[in-house]
Amino acid sequence: MPPQSQNLSPESDSQNSNSQVLKPHFRSPSPKPQVLSPKKLLVTGGAGFIGANFILYMMKKYPDYEIVNLDKLTYAGNLENLKDVENNPNYSFINGDICNTDDVKKAMTGCDSVVHFAAESHVDRSITGPAIFVQTNVVGTQVLLDVARELGVERFHHVSTDEVFGTLSLENKSELFTENTSYSPRSPYSASKAGSDHLVRAYVETYNLPATISNCTNNYGPYHFPEKVIPLFITNAMADKSLPIYGSGKAVRDYLYVTDHCSAIDLILHKGKIGETYCIGGDSERNGIEVADTILKILDKPQTLKTYVEDRKGHDMRYAMDHSKISKELGWKPSVSFDQGITATVEWYKQNESWWKRIISKEYLDSNRAEANEQ
Ligand SMILES: NC(=O)c1ccc[n+]([C@@H]2O[C@H](COP(=O)([O-])OP(=O)(O)OC[C@H]3O[C@@H](n4cnc5c(N)ncnc54)[C@H](O)[C@@H]3O)[C@@H](O)[C@H]2O)c1
Repeated sequence: MPPQSQNLSPESDSQNSNSQVLKPHFRSPSPKPQVLSPKKLLVTGGAGFIGANFILYMMKKYPDYEIVNLDKLTYAGNLENLKDVENNPNYSFINGDICNTDDVKKAMTGCDSVVHFAAESHVDRSITGPAIFVQTNVVGTQVLLDVARELGVERFHHVSTDEVFGTLSLENKSELFTENTSYSPRSPYSASKAGSDHLVRAYVETYNLPATISNCTNNYGPYHFPEKVIPLFITNAMADKSLPIYGSGKAVRDYLYVTDHCSAIDLILHKGKIGETYCIGGDSERNGIEVADTILKILDKPQTLKTYVEDRKGHDMRYAMDHSKISKELGWKPSVSFDQGITATVEWYKQNESWWKRIISKEYLDSNRAEANEQ
């Protein structure tokens, strides 16, 4: 089936047009239609992969929303992801740290809702340097929660990962993670994300903070930093370099096209129940060899580019998600198959060589520095 390009652009609308029923500021007890007040959404980590896709998606779908992007511009933040909206009067960028209360207050003041993406997100980096993961993912989340309480935001959505649940076996394919799966993180990254999830739940219980959580499987799509496996394989294959596959290549991930993650968060933000957690999955389990084979086939490159490298320490063997709760309660399901999404993603990297080449050469940091100097 050919890719449905109308669904696959980073800023495209999803299938869930009914999610426009409620707006982020909706929490009045009145059963009457809401009087809409000006809407202002704080997105943390909006210069990263998913955060940038989410901002592009939301600004297209809700042109009247104001969006504030708070991002520290670590190596993973890239303002070039947001060129399409940088001059939009409803978009503003604040270069700041979620661990810094003053930065967070400056960004959150006047916002009715928060969607929290900012994190250290790369498992391999967490294995070589866990401290920044605890600082950003745990302490940063706690600072955001405290300021959200103090300012009385109406919605706080925390974006988390399926990795908090640990690993599933390769043998029993019917086994899936659900909202009731016990936490069992096995890397410093997933442990720090688990800590942040627990804090969010604790703030709901202790302080009645109006928060929701989502745990999502592996995303892929446009603007994905080329240290992660799919963009790494695509950009290496395009340059006739080897595709490094961990261990046996049998570890399985459940892949979700990034705009489907955006549409799920959009729904939770507008219609999700306070205090609830929603699991988001792609129904697209693939192992490392299958991912590499698919990319090589699309790019018409030889299988000999596959190379097997030493396995990641403590490598989780399988992630897979049961997303029936969000499907039943909010009407969400993935709209892009893996074949469609990976074809569109390879095409995006072909069309946007200058974007990823500027990352590999580190030139993208110039744009970040210029912005940081202006603030
Ligand atoms: N990528 C995935 O497959 C996936 C899947 C499920 C959940 N998630 C979660 O989604 C979120 C976003 O993931 P991503 O892949 O877009 O990450 P990313 O690494 O691409 O982006 C993270 C962003 O956070 C910013 N940031 C880091 N530390 C900060 C700080 N102290 N203050 C302010 N900003 C800071 C970075 O500059 C960057 O722009 C993360 O919370 C991650 O755990 C990711």
